[in-house]
Amino acid sequence: MQVKESALSACASAGSVRELEDVRVRFLGKKGELTLILRGMGQLSPEERPAIGKLVNEVRGQVEAALAARTESLAQAETEARLKAETLDLSLPGRRPGRGTKHPLNIIFEDLQRIFVGMGFQVVEGPEIETDYYNFEALNVPPDHPARDMQDTFYITEEFLLRSQTSPVQIRVMERQEPPVRIIAPGKVYRRDADATHSPMFHQVEGLVVDKGITFGDLKGTLMELARSLYGDREVRFRPSFFPFTEPSAEMDISCIVCEGAGCRVCKGTGWLEVLGSGMVHPRVLEMAGYDPNQVTGFAFGIGLERLAMTRYGIEDIRLLFENDLRFLRQF
Ligand code: DAH
Repeated sequence: MQVKESALSACASAGSVRELEDVRVRFLGKKGELTLILRGMGQLSPEERPAIGKLVNEVRGQVEAALAARTESLAQAETEARLKAETLDLSLPGRRPGRGTKHPLNIIFEDLQRIFVGMGFQVVEGPEIETDYYNFEALNVPPDHPARDMQDTFYITEEFLLRSQTSPVQIRVMERQEPPVRIIAPGKVYRRDADATHSPMFHQVEGLVVDKGITFGDLKGTLMELARSLYGDREVRFRPSFFPFTEPSAEMDISCIVCEGAGCRVCKGTGWLEVLGSGMVHPRVLEMAGYDPNQVTGFAFGIGLERLAMTRYGIEDIRLLFENDLRFLRQF
């Protein structure tokens, strides 16, 4: 039978599962060649019909079997080819994820935290939105003090403001805790100031120690130990100063890390770099926070993190610390 030959050879030469489907339609479909022959059976004489019918059905069975076998082997070949084409080269090194570096301010803060925690200080935090009371009044800052001006402090309402210093955390700690107190309070502070050495947002680390019999000697010993841990055997000096919440007050300087005291651009010719403000906690401040200044005394200090970072790394513009320029940040 000629149809059988051509169906089987079409089947054998089909190169894909899709071509095979065309072969199936061509021979076995509704208008397929074999189908039409079966349909034409009616025109045969009754004697011929059984033999021809049997033959056509046999051929159909053979063609179906050939299609099925060929489909399977083609499908298998296609899968194999696809698997080969999609092989993963497991020896190819992966792309390394970008590794960040520590921000210089975090490096400095972690140093400070390690030093103070080593001396038994606790780390506490306070709110960045403060009240006028905690930020100024309870710290003995008089109503006409220039820091209270609209020009210097970001006010939210008359009562609420963005804290201009971390010192209010001193008050919050003393209000909720009996002495002894030994804390540092790191965080963001805000001032209306913006140029190469001032940023409207910057960071401070506040310190407070209150107990029976705390003296200026404790202040000096603690802060000199801090200077030694941070800067090694550099020279340190305490310079009289003024803060409303401490009496007496002192600022601590170290000999300039660039010129070693000779005088240069970084230390503005003085040979010294200012590291922090400090002092003995003012009796009025202790009193307002609920402590008895006849029973306990204390010292406090405030460190500007940006200034520390700028002097340590020789950064001349404070804005570099906040611009997130990777060329800058990758250097630390
Ligand atoms: N709060 C001061 C400032 O922002 C820094 C300071 C000075 C904090 C002396 C203190 C201190 O606790 O005793 O300039």
